[in-house]
Amino acid sequence: MPSDRVPYLTDKLQGFGTTIFAEMSALATATDSINLGQGFPDTDGPREVLDAAVAAINSGVNQYPPGPGMPVLRAAIARHQQRFYGLSYDPDSEILVTAGATEALAGALLGLLDGGDEVVLFEPMYDSYQACIALAGAVAKPVTLRPPSYGFDPDELRAAITSKTKVLLVNTPHNPTGKVLSRDELQFLADIAIDHDLVVIADEVYEHLLFDGAQHIALATLPGLRDRTLSISSGGKTFNTTGWKIGWMCGPAALVTAARTAKQFLTYVNGAPFQPAIAVGLDLPDDFFLGLAADLQAKRDRLLPGLHAAGFEVFPTSGTYFVTVDIRPVQPDGDGMAFCRALPHRCGVVAIPNEVFYANKHEGRHLVRFAFCKRAEVLDEAVRRLQTHP
Ligand SMILES: Cc1ncc(COP(=O)(O)O)c(C=O)c1O
Repeated sequence: MPSDRVPYLTDKLQGFGTTIFAEMSALATATDSINLGQGFPDTDGPREVLDAAVAAINSGVNQYPPGPGMPVLRAAIARHQQRFYGLSYDPDSEILVTAGATEALAGALLGLLDGGDEVVLFEPMYDSYQACIALAGAVAKPVTLRPPSYGFDPDELRAAITSKTKVLLVNTPHNPTGKVLSRDELQFLADIAIDHDLVVIADEVYEHLLFDGAQHIALATLPGLRDRTLSISSGGKTFNTTGWKIGWMCGPAALVTAARTAKQFLTYVNGAPFQPAIAVGLDLPDDFFLGLAADLQAKRDRLLPGLHAAGFEVFPTSGTYFVTVDIRPVQPDGDGMAFCRALPHRCGVVAIPNEVFYANKHEGRHLVRFAFCKRAEVLDEAVRRLQTHP
């Protein structure tokens, strides 16, 4: 983050700068590089989902949808939570459709937090968390996950909780590490949340992207958590529709109401014709969801050996679109930011420096994230380039 003050910008956002994704995607275009930076797939999702959006546009579903989201989508989200997690939610009072998971997170954080409240969360973390916490005037208290296992230190977590802690924000499967929290780890978090009467915000956007038989355990399924948890997800990652920005949250009515009160003044509503289309996706048979994970696992298994052969230390990833590597075997000074800025010029590949996912930048300085949600030939070419000029 730049240290210079940005004129006019609120103090709350000083230091946040432009997101690295914008910078790196622009660099990918300017240098005609393979973009393994931003996490978006380069193939379309299920035909039925795309056709449903086209049909909705052609049948006139083009005006503001209802504030909480279209009933057909809220009903499909409720069925999805029941089918995969055995959780039941009232579509009218306990489910809210949002402009991607990003807006669900913003609505939840802005709707729940007062100035000085604290949010305990893990770093590395999705970059919008810190910005939204700052906009709310609240304070992020990060606990660092460290490679290779990216587990957390229970003592560090306990020490991060104070009398001001209001929210525990958890992302599993986890971006950027691909870590999938185990039942024991989640139980520890649940105990902390209950003991300290915290609201849990569970960012589960990669809920269907798991490898090697790993299981996603929804936080709200742990005893005592359903009634203190806002579960957030989106259709972007599951149906290869990241540009549609259809997300949602599920939780007890009081928490959803608080989040909705903020959300209604952000976008109010979005994506009318995409909402029924995502509803079609959520009702697809189990085979679709299993195939999606298997396909992504094959892509992971294509990229990882290539990164290893290029000289990086590659950490295991059990879910998401991403893998993290330690660049020091290739670049001994371990400056991941400089490495990522030079890589497109050197070999035509874009990656993301993990330091942007940390409040304590030094923890992620030597780490770099590659996305593998790309076609096989694109991954093969990226590997070829990285092995030639890593
Ligand atoms: C952990 C995490 N949460 C939320 C999001 C945002 O999802 P959406 O595109 O639905 O806003 C992302 C997208 O990369 C993510 O990685």
